[in-house]
Amino acid sequence: MRFASIAGLVLPFTLAEQLVIPAVEEAVSLQLAEFSDYYVDTANKAIDSPDTLSSHDVRGIEERQTSSYWYETIAHQGISAFNDNPTTYKVYRNVKDYGARGDGQTDDTLSIQRAISDGNRCAPGACASTSTTNAVVYFPAGTYLVSSSIVSYYATHLVGNPNSLPILKATAAFDGFGVIDGAQYQPGGALPWGATNIFWRQIKNFVIDTTAIPAANAATGIHWPTSQATSLQNIVFRLASNAGTQHQGLFIEDGSGGFMNDLVFYGGKYGAVFGNQQFTVRNLTFYDAVTAISQIWNWGWTYQGISVNNCTVGLDMATRDANKEVVGSATFFDSSFTDTQIAFNISRNANSAPRTGGSLAIENVSLKNVGTAIQYGPTQAALVAGTTASSTITSWVSGQVYRPNGPNKVASAQTPFTRPASLLSNGKYYQRSKPSYADLPSTSFSSVRAGGAKGDGATDDTAALQKVITAAAASGKVVYFDAGTYIVTSTLFIPATSKIVGEGYPVIMSSGTFFNNVNSLKPVVQVGNSGDSGIVEWSDMMVSTKGAQAGAILIQWNLASPSGSPSGIWDGGTKGSGLTYTECPATPSSTTINNNCRSGNTAMHITTSASNLYLENVWLWSADHDVDEAKLRQITVYSGRGLLVESKVGNIWLVGTSVEHFARYQYRFLNTQNIFAGQIQTETPYYQPNPSARSPYPLISSTDPSFDVSCPTATAAPNCAEAWGLAVQASKNVLVYGAGLYSFYSNYNTSCSATGASTLCQQGMVLYDAASTTNFRVYGLNTVGTYGMIYKDTTRLATYDYNLNIYPSSIILFDNAV
Ligand SMILES: *[C@@H]1O[C@H](CO)[C@@H](O)[C@H](O)[C@H]1NC(C)=O
Ligand SMILES: *[C@@H]1O[C@H](CO)[C@@H](O)[C@H](O)[C@H]1NC(C)=O
Ligand SMILES: *[C@@H]1O[C@H](CO)[C@@H](O)[C@H](O)[C@H]1NC(C)=O
Ligand SMILES: *[C@@H]1O[C@H](CO)[C@@H](O)[C@H](O)[C@H]1NC(C)=O
Ligand SMILES: *[C@@H]1O[C@H](CO)[C@@H](O)[C@H](O)[C@H]1NC(C)=O
Repeated sequence: MRFASIAGLVLPFTLAEQLVIPAVEEAVSLQLAEFSDYYVDTANKAIDSPDTLSSHDVRGIEERQTSSYWYETIAHQGISAFNDNPTTYKVYRNVKDYGARGDGQTDDTLSIQRAISDGNRCAPGACASTSTTNAVVYFPAGTYLVSSSIVSYYATHLVGNPNSLPILKATAAFDGFGVIDGAQYQPGGALPWGATNIFWRQIKNFVIDTTAIPAANAATGIHWPTSQATSLQNIVFRLASNAGTQHQGLFIEDGSGGFMNDLVFYGGKYGAVFGNQQFTVRNLTFYDAVTAISQIWNWGWTYQGISVNNCTVGLDMATRDANKEVVGSATFFDSSFTDTQIAFNISRNANSAPRTGGSLAIENVSLKNVGTAIQYGPTQAALVAGTTASSTITSWVSGQVYRPNGPNKVASAQTPFTRPASLLSNGKYYQRSKPSYADLPSTSFSSVRAGGAKGDGATDDTAALQKVITAAAASGKVVYFDAGTYIVTSTLFIPATSKIVGEGYPVIMSSGTFFNNVNSLKPVVQVGNSGDSGIVEWSDMMVSTKGAQAGAILIQWNLASPSGSPSGIWDGGTKGSGLTYTECPATPSSTTINNNCRSGNTAMHITTSASNLYLENVWLWSADHDVDEAKLRQITVYSGRGLLVESKVGNIWLVGTSVEHFARYQYRFLNTQNIFAGQIQTETPYYQPNPSARSPYPLISSTDPSFDVSCPTATAAPNCAEAWGLAVQASKNVLVYGAGLYSFYSNYNTSCSATGASTLCQQGMVLYDAASTTNFRVYGLNTVGTYGMIYKDTTRLATYDYNLNIYPSSIILFDNAV
């Protein structure tokens, strides 16, 4: 997390400031005015006849024979270990237990809201953030009438029955901004919580229906400013499609995301309105919208598997301000446009300001009956013509290109990346959505609490968890982690063939001396032994540390999986903290290192024997602030390394992943191959260069990039030895589709990342070795606060000021040319 940027305005401020300073309110109201056409006009309630659904509006909604779902019927024993009232606080809430009827007749708004708010939770405006009031609000099949917004709270999972999607149906007189409002505007016009701090929430398995609201009235399906460890999945939006419709499916105006997938939109003025620093969106389908996607601002977005049908415009990223781009960049691939007038509407040209503003990369996009493929918005001229038949854009970019030298300013067709066949399925990058186990009965699940684990954040659950996990793998059951915090004091072993699913992001938390020897690394969770093969599925969970854990590898993945059916991890990740402001406050004015604040050695290690692993929406985070403190004060917690990939066979998919605040590197690809990654997002620790990346974790010479040549201690600038965002060595086929690699701070001071700063926060961000790296390519590289964007060994290939974008610096296409 970090930073707020609204409609191209970038405001460096600390969170405490964010809650009070007037500059932010001004920015918000500016953004409200600028995009006022997106906002709900509650005063104007013309009495039109409601739109009726035409028959094709059920495309994409799966009909099933049975509507039972294991999660509805399984025993609900999840707890929130650190809640003030852990014995009475309910994590699971079935809306029907709170009076909701789901009968299509009763107004269920208040009942649903009671289910969300029960138990003194973190309401918008009432608290800054929290990790102690997670809740899962479950909706059985049914049609739930709502007359005003369902207001979601912090760390809330809204979950529908995937076997018969619950329908949230807005009444004709619906009043609110979003059938689901994920972050309700507060009096004074500010978003609650701080959009870049909204973590740990999801919405899945719903139909959101606004068609009863007159088409001429503004209506919004979901309002979703959000950040990491959040997701939207398997949601159908039904919007009015009458001429002049003012409906929009999804509205995101701020945040630091994020991931969403498997969304289907019908109708609307806008299917989706997107503004956020960075995001990965996969498998979104649009029918009959005026504009499928309106990109109002970003630093960089990754669009994978987008299908646009019968719309006027597909992706509109043309700026509304004639003199200044407000969209940073987009990477758009493996997608299609059918029966659509204009696939892409852009405003970038050779004279765009800033220089790289509005950059776009397209790869493998098919067109069928499309009027104009790419339109230059200001003059409506075709940059790339359409076709009444079928055609494919293999690759086209507008922006600055390095091969590996540059910049070359281009707006033209390019040679697409060479894709290894092992990463593909039918020519597209392999995709796999988080499993819901919709076909299994609840008897197929083995609850860890039923098996004796406590999850209370105090009891040593190592033995109890191991017993359940081992037995489940042997009997073919799915391990179900009831919500809770499970302490482990030695390594937990996950055998091949395990399937594990969590409730509301339960936590496996390492503790004790076993994990605290910086010279003897120990996995907290170990998946397979070297040489094992099989498939593991793991979703909706977190691995974390408690106190000093200087030798902990939070996840060590050794398992080889079959080519074509990889293992997977969805929605979850690691958090190296458990250390609060009390123990580890930020200390910018001291150079003393508190070794008790070393919270983890390596977040995740994919070892040489591992292969075929799919990660989607995984966030590896070393906490930068105390999430359970009212002021969210910054903390100095030292974590050594982020994601290390050494898989020899490779075939690793990193879809919507981020790695933040690790001392030596965030992403490290070493002696590996066949990596698909997009979008990757990183942040450098806020304390660096106090101390530099060399401390406080001693060099592991076999895997760490050394700073000895590039930054000799005696002579280099102080900001030279800082964490690499991405370091590639001796690897081939590393294909990155969108990267946001940020360094916002120098010893907790943001002036080095402010627009126009002359002394940048750090020297280098991307590193690769020329001698043994082949086919390393990146679309949409965005860096912040970094002088040299890319280093080939010790040679700086790209400097930030040649590539200025609306806030980051951007290269739309990098190719190491080997
Ligand atoms: C895309 O989403 C639809 C609708 O949820 C789903 O049926 C389909 O399986 C998804 N496809 C992929 C490739 O994930
Ligand atoms: C295309 O979308 C329009 C609404 O914009 C709708 O009226 C029309 O029926 C759609 N056409 C098809 C073939 O679905
Ligand atoms: C495309 O972008 C331009 C602004 O550059 C805007 O005026 C126009 O309305 C957009 N949409 C269409 C359909 O041309
Ligand atoms: C692109 O996508 C199409 C399907 O839309 C597929 O058939 C084709 O093989 C893909 N891959 C490449 C590299 O063009
Ligand atoms: C941050 O750094 C700038 C430039 O060195 C300096 O002027 C400013 O006072 C610093 N701010 C704080 C809070 O130390």
